[in-house]
Amino acid sequence: MAVSSARGLLLASLLLSCLIHDCYGKILFSSLQSTLQVTTSTKQGVLKAGEDKVTVTWRVNQSLPSGTDSEYKTVTVKLCYSPVSQKDRAWRKTVDLLEKDKTCQFKIAARPYDKTVQTAEWIVEREVPTSTYFVRAYAFNADGQEVAFGQSTNDQKTTNLFDIQAISGRHASLDIASVCFSAFAVVSLFGFFYLEKRKGRSSQQK
Ligand SMILES: *[C@@H]1O[C@H](CO)[C@@H](O)[C@H](O)[C@H]1NC(C)=O
Repeated sequence: MAVSSARGLLLASLLLSCLIHDCYGKILFSSLQSTLQVTTSTKQGVLKAGEDKVTVTWRVNQSLPSGTDSEYKTVTVKLCYSPVSQKDRAWRKTVDLLEKDKTCQFKIAARPYDKTVQTAEWIVEREVPTSTYFVRAYAFNADGQEVAFGQSTNDQKTTNLFDIQAISGRHASLDIASVCFSAFAVVSLFGFFYLEKRKGRSSQQK
């Protein structure tokens, strides 16, 4: 009697903790298979946010057994921070638990899964900060869970990286110029009033 009620309690609490913690949503990056081949192409040099584009292609690795992709329903492609741009920045941290992972914060494309080579052209969003990046694609199953991935760099995330320069940094000199110009305008306005007043006073004295 006591044993069975204890077991019942245990089951109930397990069920409850599952409900609270969403036990089906805990997917670890390290548990995903690397089956997608992802490549990027960009212009030479630093890309400008809001202007330059990244072209991404992806496809399931053709040397894997057929049926590897049988579960795949959708693919999401994202822009991800390279380790060098995550250093000392907790808000970009890589966490194995995918729902907590901050590595990939910008969505490039989301599509139904297709066996053929897929291509997406993406103009770097204006919000993207200055950093060094790579691209990763996740394959999701019908339940919306990540089941596989692929990335445009090696496991250490050191090859085929590209740099993006944010809009703010690029326009800083322009901002400084406009502040100087406004200050000049205010000074001239006061100068103009001062001269007008003096002129008025000197004409009164006549
Ligand atoms: C594709 O899969 C084969 C077999 O597992 C593997 O040897 C090869 O490295 C993979 N290619 C890429 C680019 O991931």
